[in-house]
Amino acid sequence: MSGVNEIRSTFLDYFRKNGHEAVPSSPLVPRNDPTLMFVNAGMVQFKNVFTGLETRNYSRAATAQKCVRAGGKHNDLDNVGYTARHHTFFEMLGNFSFGDYFKENAIEFAWNLITREFGIDREKLLVTVYHTDDEAAGFWKKIAGLPDQKIIRIATSDNFWAMGDTGPCGPCSEIFYDHGEGIPGGPPGSPDEDGDRFIEIWNLVFMQFEQLTKDERVALPRPSIDTGMGLERIAAVLQGKHDNYDIDLFQALIRASEEATGVKAEGKNRASHRVIADHLRASSFLIADGVLPSNEGRGYVLRRIMRRAMRHAQLLGASEPLMWRLVPALVREMGQAYPELVRGQPLITETLKLEETRFRKTLARGLNLLSDATDTLGTGDRLDGETAFKLYDTYGFPLDLTQDALRQRGISVDTDGFNAAMERQKAEARANWTGSGEAATEAVWFSVKDKVGATEFLGYETEQAEGVVAALVKGGEQIDAVQAGDMVDIVVNQTPFYGESGGQVGDTGTMTGEDFAIEITDTQKKGDGLLVHSGKVVKGSVNTGAAVEMKVDHERRTRLRSNHSATHLVHEALREVLGTHVAQKGSLVAPERLRFDFSHPKPISAEELERVETMANEIVTQNSPVVTRLMAVDDAIAEGAMALFGEKYGDEVRVVSMGTGLHGDKAGKSYSTELCGGTHVGATGDIGLVRLVSEGAVASGVRRIEALTGEAARRHLDEQDRRLKAIASALKVSPADALSRVEALVEERRKLERELTDARKKLALGGGSAGNGAAAGNETVAGVGFMGRVVSGVSPRDLKPLADEGKKSLGSGIVVFVGAADDGKASVVVGVTDDLTPRFSAVDLVRVASAALGGQGGGGRPDMAQAGGPDATRAQAAIDAVKTALR
Ligand code: ALA
Repeated sequence: MSGVNEIRSTFLDYFRKNGHEAVPSSPLVPRNDPTLMFVNAGMVQFKNVFTGLETRNYSRAATAQKCVRAGGKHNDLDNVGYTARHHTFFEMLGNFSFGDYFKENAIEFAWNLITREFGIDREKLLVTVYHTDDEAAGFWKKIAGLPDQKIIRIATSDNFWAMGDTGPCGPCSEIFYDHGEGIPGGPPGSPDEDGDRFIEIWNLVFMQFEQLTKDERVALPRPSIDTGMGLERIAAVLQGKHDNYDIDLFQALIRASEEATGVKAEGKNRASHRVIADHLRASSFLIADGVLPSNEGRGYVLRRIMRRAMRHAQLLGASEPLMWRLVPALVREMGQAYPELVRGQPLITETLKLEETRFRKTLARGLNLLSDATDTLGTGDRLDGETAFKLYDTYGFPLDLTQDALRQRGISVDTDGFNAAMERQKAEARANWTGSGEAATEAVWFSVKDKVGATEFLGYETEQAEGVVAALVKGGEQIDAVQAGDMVDIVVNQTPFYGESGGQVGDTGTMTGEDFAIEITDTQKKGDGLLVHSGKVVKGSVNTGAAVEMKVDHERRTRLRSNHSATHLVHEALREVLGTHVAQKGSLVAPERLRFDFSHPKPISAEELERVETMANEIVTQNSPVVTRLMAVDDAIAEGAMALFGEKYGDEVRVVSMGTGLHGDKAGKSYSTELCGGTHVGATGDIGLVRLVSEGAVASGVRRIEALTGEAARRHLDEQDRRLKAIASALKVSPADALSRVEALVEERRKLERELTDARKKLALGGGSAGNGAAAGNETVAGVGFMGRVVSGVSPRDLKPLADEGKKSLGSGIVVFVGAADDGKASVVVGVTDDLTPRFSAVDLVRVASAALGGQGGGGRPDMAQAGGPDATRAQAAIDAVKTALR
C-alpha cells in the first residue's frame, strides 16, 4: 500500500522520466485569471500557455496542484463531510502537453502509469469518451486493449471539460475504477451512474478550443493535453479503500481531531470529523497562500469554511478552540510536499485560533436562537429569511453554515428572504450615509462601492494579476468607457496595486488589455474598501467589464518595501537609544526615502544617531524573515505591538514583526512588532543598508529623521566618499589625514587673520609708523588737530578701536576713519578728544560724513559716533565734508 506522499512523487517521477518538467503547484489565488476565485484545476497556471499568450521553455509538464472548489463554477462545499469523495481542498495530479503530444500519447502515458507503475488491475478499469470522438475510442482499443463495452460514449458536458465560462476547453476521456459488485451503482452513462461503484479517477482533456464568450469558441493554436487525477481518489484505490476519508492522510488528521476532542469518528460524529479534516486543509492552505478571513470575496469564503468547521467542533463538544491544535498534524502530513505550510505555520495557527475564539463568543447563542426558531419545524420545512439574516448579521453565521446546521433535520432556508433582508440593510446604510454630508466628489465612490463591492487586494502576495474593470470614473462621474488621452480613475475587481495608507505611498505601474494600455500613476483607498487607480489611457479605449493585466512597477515597489521595513527598524532603534517615550507622529514611505516624525524633546546628538543607525543595521544583517500575522487588536497590543495612538483599527489587524533584539531588555526577544497594513521585505537582509541622512525639528517636541535604504543608501555613501577623496586630494594628504590637515589649516588661518588685522590697524593709523603724533597726513583744521583716513580691509567693528588709537596719538583733535567694504558700502567713525567735546559733537560730524556717503543718520556719543553709507567711492569726499563742517 502506498501513502499519499509516495503516490504524489511516483506520479511526478514517472512523468519526469517521460520528458516532462515537474512544475511546482501555483498558489491557490490565481494570478493569471481575472474572474476565477481559486485555482480549481491543474491547468489554471498554464491557461495562457495553452492559448499561446505565454511561452515556456518546456512543452511537457507535470504537477501536483493545490485546488479549492468552494466558490465559482466548481463548488463542492455543501457536500463535504456527507459524501465519500467531496473536498473543498484537494490535490490534482496532472500532465500537460502544450502542442507537443496529443491523444495517443496521453492515453498511453495514463494507461501505463496506472496499470504498470501503480499496478491497478486492468480488469477493473473502464473509460468514457465524448460521443463523437472515434479517435480516442480507437486509441483506447489499440493501447489498452479495452473491449467496446468498456469504452463508453457520453454525449453530455460530462465529457466536455471547461475551466469556467471562458478559457481553454475540449472533449475529454475519463478513466473509471470499478469498486466491485459489493457497492451499488452503474457504469457511467447508465441510469444509476450516480451510485458509488464506478468512480472516475482520471480525466484526460484533449484541449482544442478556447471559449472566448458564451457564444464564441475558437481553436487553440495547437492541440494540447490537460489531465487531472484527484490524488485522494487514486490513493483510495491504491490503498484498497472505497472512501477518500479512509486514506492515510485523512486518517491521520481525523485521529488528531479525535484525540483533541476525545470523541471517536463514529456514528453521528463521523461527518463532523470529516468536515473538520477537510476544512482544516482548505483553511490552512488558503492562509498559507495569503488569504485572510474577511467579510468579502475570497476572505469570506475562507471565513465560511473556517466557521463551518468550528460549528462541527462545537458539535463534538470541544470546549476550547480546536482547529489550531490540529495544524501540527497537517504540517506533519503535508509540510514536506508544501513547504509554504511550514513557513506559514505561525500565521495559520494564530489565524485559526483567533477566528475560533471570536466565533465561539456568538456561536452558542446563535445556535440557541436557531434551535428556538426551528423548534416546531420538521423535514421539508423552511427557516424564514429574517432569522437566517439575524444569525448572519448578529451572530456571524454564514448562510451556508445555517443551511448545514439544518441539513440533517431536512430543513431548508428561505434564501430569497435572506437576500431581501440583506438588501434592506444595505439600503439603510446608504440612506444614513447620504445624510452625513460628505463631499460630493466622494459620493461617486460610495455608489461604486455599493455596486461593485470592495476591491480584493492581492499585493501582499503578488505584483501582477489579471482583473476585470469594475468601474471607470472621469472627472468625478462614473462612465462606461474611456479613450486614449483620458485621465481616469479605475476600479478593478481585484488588484496587486497598494493604495496609499499608513504612510506608504500608492503603487504605480501599468494596466493593459486586448487593445489598450493605461499608465497608472497613483493608487488611493476610497470609500469603504475600494482601491482606486488613477492614470492616463495611453492607447486604445477601455470599457467597464474589460479584462486587464495589471503590473505594479516592481523596482519602485521593491524600494517601497525596503523603506517601509526600515521605518519599523528605525522606530524601534530610536526607542532603544532615546527611550520608550518615542512615539510615531507621522511617517512617509516613498520610493526614494523614508521620513519618520516622532516625539522627542530635544535634538539628537551625532553619537545617538550613529547608535540608531547601527542598531537598525544589526537587524538588517540578521536577515531574519519578516513575519506577518492577523490578530485581534487587543491581543496584538498586549503582545507589545506598536499601534498609533488615535488611529482607528478594525477588530482584526495585521501585525508585522521582524528581527531579534541584541541588547538590554530586548535581547533575544522579537525586535520590532507593529500593527501595519503596508508591504514589507521578505527578510530584513533585503533592506541592504539603512542610512540616516538628516535630523531636525518639525514642531515643538517633534523631531524628524530622514533615511535611505538599499541602493540609495549605498549611493549616498559613495557620494560622501567621493567628496572626502576630493578634499583629501585638494589638501594633498590621504583621506585618513584630511581631518587633522583641515584642523591645522583652520588654526593657521585664525593666526594669520589676527596678524593681518594688527598690521592693517598699524597701517591705518600711521602709514606704517604708528604711535607717532606727527605722522604723515595729520593736519590742523580750524585750529584743531585732524586725522582723516580711508582704510580698507578693516571691518566696521574694528573702526572704533582704530579711532581710539587715533585720538590717543593726536592727544587733542578730531579723527575720521572711513572704511570701504568689499561690497562697495562704507562705514564711518568720528572721534573727538574729550577737551574738544564742548565745541564739537562726534554725532553731528558723523551725520555730515554719512550724508556725503549717500547715507543718513548715525549715532553714538559726543566723543565717538558711527554711521554708514552706500557709496564707498565718496570716502574722501566724506572726510572733506567733515573738514568743511569744522571751519
Ligand atoms: N482540467 C481537468 C479537470 O479538472 C483535467 O478535470
